[in-house]
Amino acid sequence: MGSRIAVIGTGYVGLTTGACFAHLGHDVVCADVDEAKIERLRSGEVPILESGLEEMVREGLRSGRLRFVVGAAGAVRDAEFAYLCVPTPQGLDGSADLSYIEAAAREIAPHLPPAAVVVNKSTVPVGSTRFVEQALGRSDVFVVSNPEFLREGSAVTDFLHPDRIIIGSDDQSAAIRVAALYLDVPAPLMVTDPASAETIKYASNAFLATKLSFVNAIAAVCEAVGADVNDVVLGMGYDKRIGHEFLKPGPGWGGSCFPKDSRALLYLAKEAGYHFDLLEGVISVNHEQFERVVEKIRRMVGTLEGSTVAVWGLTFKANTDDLRESPSLEIVGRLLDSGAVVRGYDPTVRGPLDQLPGLQVCDDPYAACGGADVLAVLTEWDEFKWLDLDKVGEQLRHRQVVDGRNLLDRSALARRGFRYEGIGRT
Ligand code: UDX
Ligand code: UDX
Repeated sequence: MGSRIAVIGTGYVGLTTGACFAHLGHDVVCADVDEAKIERLRSGEVPILESGLEEMVREGLRSGRLRFVVGAAGAVRDAEFAYLCVPTPQGLDGSADLSYIEAAAREIAPHLPPAAVVVNKSTVPVGSTRFVEQALGRSDVFVVSNPEFLREGSAVTDFLHPDRIIIGSDDQSAAIRVAALYLDVPAPLMVTDPASAETIKYASNAFLATKLSFVNAIAAVCEAVGADVNDVVLGMGYDKRIGHEFLKPGPGWGGSCFPKDSRALLYLAKEAGYHFDLLEGVISVNHEQFERVVEKIRRMVGTLEGSTVAVWGLTFKANTDDLRESPSLEIVGRLLDSGAVVRGYDPTVRGPLDQLPGLQVCDDPYAACGGADVLAVLTEWDEFKWLDLDKVGEQLRHRQVVDGRNLLDRSALARRGFRYEGIGRT
């Protein structure tokens, strides 16, 4: 018999958590403040691109194990667990803004049954378990940290087949009750104190960002010494301590997590008295990477003022529709500021973007190349590898490519008279 779980917030994290818990046999009520979103979810319409999620939501609706309501209070009335999956956005000074977490805790406090367990799934600063305990103001409920390690585009797989499950709690019985929710999930499960659980999340994301900034910096070295970064990372990765995963150079890292979480960790370390200058370097290398790609495009066209740049890929990575903190949009913004005309294509983007009104969004990758002086590939959508390069060449005013993901076939382009510049390979 499954447990009764309330999930507060139905975004990438909350919706995946609720649907997967229902799939595991639990009785789940998902709540959100966004009424329109709840209406769509009730009809089985999933507003985000996550492979397998729509089927999972429809399965939950059919089985009756997954329901959607507006507002958190109603969702927790007879819940044994209340998962907080509301945003923890970036504050101006780098700190995480916990106002949504606090609002959600205060909203559910009067309605939580005794002995309920409130679970922090959102990425929250170290010490937030205490913060939520205070916001709840109840001594007869528990607060447990259970950080999410979901990658966008593979969130369902990552939830049902995680590398590990981390539970942070000072109360053993509450920890064991949360652990029991994952009984059918084949993964190592670790119980620790709340501060350690929260630190594992930040440290993991910061380490992954460090790995990426390192490989992007090595790519810059490769360009300077005439090495090919693809071979360098291949050779590095055979060392099992380094591994081949997460070692692809690119236009920099982005998304709704790495930028926010790396700055939050920097901030909370400084607040705690440690100046994390290594992480500071990781973040500044990432910002430099955006500029390096803009420079490559500028060098290719001579001057950006009045040039036309075609951009393939606007999302922060392939297989997601998420534009949050996308390096591609960061680079497009700088091109527009330098007076370039930019025509962008992305499989998941239709119509103009509020955040970049100057960007001409095309609904076809060839049309985006029409009359352009250079093509910049900024997101590694698989479909870009299979497009007809002859047709691309005919569309472009100049056969020039800056390949920000080392995605395209450099020799096929050379045979067609293209000038090619990749990342870490000239
Ligand atoms: C967010 C944070 O970005 C992430 O760091 C954290 O781990 C989980 O929450 P995500 O699910 O991607 O991740 O956020 P988003 O897609 O913006 O969804 C948040 C949802 O919460 C939205 O549907 C929003 O309407 C809802 N919400 C927000 C509430 O239900 N209540 C609130 O008070 C605020
Ligand atoms: C990340 C973490 O992977 C996940 O564990 C955590 O829970 C949330 O944050 P996500 O933000 O969805 O997941 O994206 P991820 O796949 O990690 O990529 C992050 C950024 O790194 C993207 O901009 C991506 O393009 C970039 N990246 C990733 C590279 O540039 N090269 C790589 O080899 C891998």
